[in-house]
Parts: sequence; structure tokens; C-alpha cells
Amino acid sequence: MSRLKLTNYHSYKELLELSKKMVKKNYHLKNLIRRPDRLNQFSIRIDNFFYDFSKQRIEETILKELVQLAREVKAKDEFLKMISGEIINVTENRAALHTATRDFTKIPIFLNGADIKLEINRVNEQIKMFSSKTHQKMIKGSTGKDFTDAVIIGIGGSYLGCEFVFNALKHSIKPKIDLHFLPNVDIDNFGQIIKEIDPETCLWIVISKTYTTTETLANLEQALLFLKEHHLDPAKHLVTVTSKGSPGDNPSNPVLASFHMFDFIGGRYSVSSAVGGVPLSLAFGHDVFIRFLKGCHEMDVHASNASEEKNIPLVSALISIWNSNFLGYAAQAIIPYCSALSRLAPHIQQLYMESIGKGTTINGEPTDYKTGAIIFGEPGTNAQHSFFQFAHQGSPFPVEFIGVVNPIYTKNQAISKGVYNHQELWANMIAQAQALAVGKDDEDKAKYFTGNRPSSTIIVNDLTPESIGMLLSFYEARTVYEGFILGVNPFDQFGVELGKILASDIRNQIRMKNTNAAYDFDSLDPAVKFYLDTLFKGSL
Ligand code: F6P
Repeated sequence: MSRLKLTNYHSYKELLELSKKMVKKNYHLKNLIRRPDRLNQFSIRIDNFFYDFSKQRIEETILKELVQLAREVKAKDEFLKMISGEIINVTENRAALHTATRDFTKIPIFLNGADIKLEINRVNEQIKMFSSKTHQKMIKGSTGKDFTDAVIIGIGGSYLGCEFVFNALKHSIKPKIDLHFLPNVDIDNFGQIIKEIDPETCLWIVISKTYTTTETLANLEQALLFLKEHHLDPAKHLVTVTSKGSPGDNPSNPVLASFHMFDFIGGRYSVSSAVGGVPLSLAFGHDVFIRFLKGCHEMDVHASNASEEKNIPLVSALISIWNSNFLGYAAQAIIPYCSALSRLAPHIQQLYMESIGKGTTINGEPTDYKTGAIIFGEPGTNAQHSFFQFAHQGSPFPVEFIGVVNPIYTKNQAISKGVYNHQELWANMIAQAQALAVGKDDEDKAKYFTGNRPSSTIIVNDLTPESIGMLLSFYEARTVYEGFILGVNPFDQFGVELGKILASDIRNQIRMKNTNAAYDFDSLDPAVKFYLDTLFKGSL
């Protein structure tokens, strides 16, 4: 794909001009938000999803020009190419078809002459059978006991999205099988999990697209050793989710079940594939997983069909670009006022930062503009008692608040200061956005608040699987839209490779010492030598 560099587009130059006026007093947010009809003009509502960007530092001409930028770069065309299976991930010569895993239409999607939806449906049926047979106790462990727990061995995209959805849903749906996550090669991650499980009633689900990821393979070895120590047959306790033809896709492997993921779905976009499907169906039932997929599909339909100015993920991507490239904010916080969404920010960190944090355009030129921002976040109100001092008086950063209208807990509720807990939660969420925008004058400079700090607010009705699906798909669509507009490839991740190569050199030295082979710590960088000496000495 050949396109202009972002900075060469007419609308980009116009936006640069427009951004100059934002320092003027009447463009301070406290004045902008007082303008008539502000909320109505700068919000988009679809069924069960409300996006309020009225507290962003924009006005009509800026929004118009941002939308114009999306049109100039043909962002929607790119999105439509993506969902129809074009080779949009050009650096890896692949399609990017995560949306196909939740496409409930009858329209086939052809890739290399075959309808990939048939294959996706086949895997889905397999997941349905496996999870329901496990729930009906037709599949048991090697000592004949029913399964109660499953440990997910996988890292990055093979773990974060699934963990987010599991945590979000377990508040309202009691898991039939409890999930534990073993992403880290840290032995204490393993040590903690085995305290929580009964070896005889536990499944180990290895999730790895490549089946070459060091951490995952190390943890698989650890799991195999654990099964052996407990005299359990791996063929009755191990499940794999991996791509066709990977080293783990070996029919002679002694596993209980094996499911395919596809090379046309990137790891961080894979929650709606078997990566999420197997563990989430085991945890909650396949019907719940399908409801989650339906929510994803609803947002996918909106992201592909809505016009640029009414398209929530697209407008949100434009706001993000406006904030980082034109207003100079280096970070964005995601603050759900909802404990069940506590693992949303870690998932979006990978989804967004691995996708957008690129130094090269899709044409192979270096970027001379910002590609994304640092994402971080914690649930509110906890965040208010943590880093909100910085948010109000330190270097400013945009915040995305997320509110859920109805809590899960509906039993007897106490009243404190005249309100219920959930109302208190909302009072705080609403107030924080206002305080950031408006600020406060004070003679005492320590008590002075600049205000003019932007935020958006997303509201969903509840925490049903459908709502969680919409939220997940919103962030996926927003991420790819941002990549398309910035002109970077949101589907590759070459930036993670260098550290892996260096770790492999260091690992070789450790292995040689472990095996009494000719290692040479003295030839290493002095800092590397110091750390390895410390590790082997066992103390500082
Ligand atoms: O190191 C980054 C990464 O490649 C992610 O993109 C991916 O989600 C993760 O590692 C795990 O990869 P795999 O599923 O192949 O084990």
C-alpha cells in the first residue's frame, strides 16, 4: 500500500494551524464546555454504548477537519479492506481477520480461494463440544475426577484479552471451571498457582500462536514436570490452542484436545478466536462466549457502517491523534469506574501500544510524527487515591472514564452520606471529569488547578457478555483506525524482537555454566557479568 506521509495531507496541515488557537483563553475547556448544546454535539450514542467527547479540547472546525483527515487517508476503506480479507498486514503478508471470528452474517470471506468462516465455525463447534462434554463430566482427569480448574499457559496476546474478559464476567457469572493465568516465566507465578489448584482436577491449556515463545515453552515444561510428579497423564490434562503447522500442532502430541488459531488473526486481536473461546467456554459455557461474540459483532457492524462523524471508534482514534500529535500529550489513562474492568487497561496497553508504537510508516519511511501514546490505568475511585494528584496538577494527560449504569450486585445496599455505593462511584466519576476540565483558581498556588485537562466518558448499561464484547471490539476498532490514519501497520510487532535476541545470547551463557561447558562471563558487558555473577552467587 502506498500513501502519503501523514504530515503531507492537507487536513493535517490545517489541523496544525487550528491547534495554535487552543492556547487562547476562550478555548480553555471551562469555556468550551459551557457552549450551548456541547454534550449533544460532541457525543455519539448507539444501542448500549455512549461516547462523550465533549470534554476534549476541540470545537466544530477541529472535529470537521479531523473527520476530513480520516476521509483523506481513506480510513474507512482500509477498515472495509481489513474485514473483507485483503492482505492488509503487508510487512507479514497476511490478512487481519479477527472480525471474521464474530461475523454472524451468511456472507463468506474468501482467503486463498477458501471461505475461512467454514474453518472458524468448525473450530467453534469443536470448542462447543469440548466445553459441554467437560461440563457434563464426560471428560475427566487421569484419576477419573471432574475438572474444576484450568491454568492458561500463554503470554501477551495469548493471555491478556482472555484474562480481561474472564475477570469482567466472573463478577456476574459463576465460573463452572475456574481459570488461572500463567504468563510469566517467573517461577513464583507457577508456585502461586499450584497452591490454588488440585492437580487431579486441573486442565493445562497451552495457548501460543507460534508455539516458540520462550516463556510459554518453559512453563509447559514446568507443567509437564508437575504432572509427572503427581503421576498424572499429560494426555488427559493438556490442551493446546495453536496455529496449524506450528511445533505444537503435532497430532502425535499426547494432548486431551487441540484447537487451531489462524495466521490471519494477530495475537493481541485474538480474544474472539479459540484463544478466548476455549478458556472462556470452559469457564462460563459456550453460550456465554457466543453472547460475547455477538457484542463484538455489534460494534464491528457500527465500526464498518457508521459515517466518519458518527463512528465511535473512528472519532475516538481521531481524538487520540489530535491529543498526541497536535496538543502534545504523551500518555492516556483508561479509568473504568468498575472493578470488574480492572484488567482492561493492561489488555489495551498491549493491544494499542504493540499496534501503534511504530517508528516506520507502512511505506517503510521513518515516522516524523507521534505514533500513539503511553496507555495506563486503574479502576476509579482507586485511581483518585493513587495518581490523580498528578492528573490534576502534574503534567497533563487525557483520561478515558468508563461508567456502567447498572452494577451487578443488587442485594441490600447501605446508605452512606445519603447515597448508595454505586451512586457514590458515579458522583466521583462525573466530578473528576469536571474538575479536570474546569480547574480552580486560588490565591494559594498549591491549591490552584489549571484545569483544561481533557477527558472522554464511555457509558455502557451493564456488564453482560454482550457489553464486554462491545467494549473489547470498540478498542480493537479504535486501535486499527488509529493505525490506518497514522499510516503505520497496526498488525506487526518487530519491536519486541531485539530484546528476545539479546536474552538468547545471555541464556546461552547461563546454559553453558549450568552444563559445565566453556562459558565466559568475563567477555560480557561488565553490567551483564555483574548481574549473572549475582544470580549464581545467590546474593548481592
Ligand atoms: O512478544 C510479543 C508476542 O509476539 C505477542 O505479539 C504475542 O501475542 C505474544 O508474543 C505471544 O506469542 P505466541 O502466541 O506466539 O506465544
